[in-house]
Amino acid sequence: MNQSITLHSDVAQILLTEDEIATKVRELGARISSDYRDRPLTLVSVLKGSLPFMADLMRAIDIPVRIDLMEVSSYGGSSTESSGLVRILKDLSASIVGEDVLIVEDIIDTGLTLNYLIRYLRGKAPASLRICTLLDKPARRLVEIKLDYTGFTIPDQFVVGYGLDYGELYRNLRYVGVLRPEVYSGAPEG
Ligand code: PRP
Repeated sequence: MNQSITLHSDVAQILLTEDEIATKVRELGARISSDYRDRPLTLVSVLKGSLPFMADLMRAIDIPVRIDLMEVSSYGGSSTESSGLVRILKDLSASIVGEDVLIVEDIIDTGLTLNYLIRYLRGKAPASLRICTLLDKPARRLVEIKLDYTGFTIPDQFVVGYGLDYGELYRNLRYVGVLRPEVYSGAPEG
């Protein structure tokens, strides 16, 4: 089977094109560069979903930045639902005490992952902690979170691509698309 045909044909609709994403990332990069002009900034990418966004955003920022990577995953839940219990698979590699830190996320859905992460990182005594997310899906929010930089507010649809996965696939799509419901309906949870 031609894997490329399967990859794209599982997508019902393109929600955000590659160009729309690139334009937004440039805007966010310019805003962040201006806001942190005189302050050394540390970007903390939350893997794996934020990988393409982080790679593009850091290059759209034209002030000096440090980067660090965390990987978290939620315990239990299903492939399409977050459980709120977060496991740290990879922690920061350097101290953020006294640093201005910007968390870089691909999507905020229930907010449970970020809620945990904010409390965890505040405990490491940064000078400031802000949030940048490419996508915000407010319809599913369970905890209130202040987002400082948001790329796109999206409807309550299951999206994949540009880092976002279903069953660890589709992350390599260059756009964000809505997955065909038949791809995930009836699939085993986990
Ligand atoms: C995704 C995303 C956020 C979280 C958002 O990560 O990157 O971290 O879910 O969901 P929430 O707001 O409902 O908590 P996921 O756990 O799927 O891991 P991944 O980034 O490796 O795909």
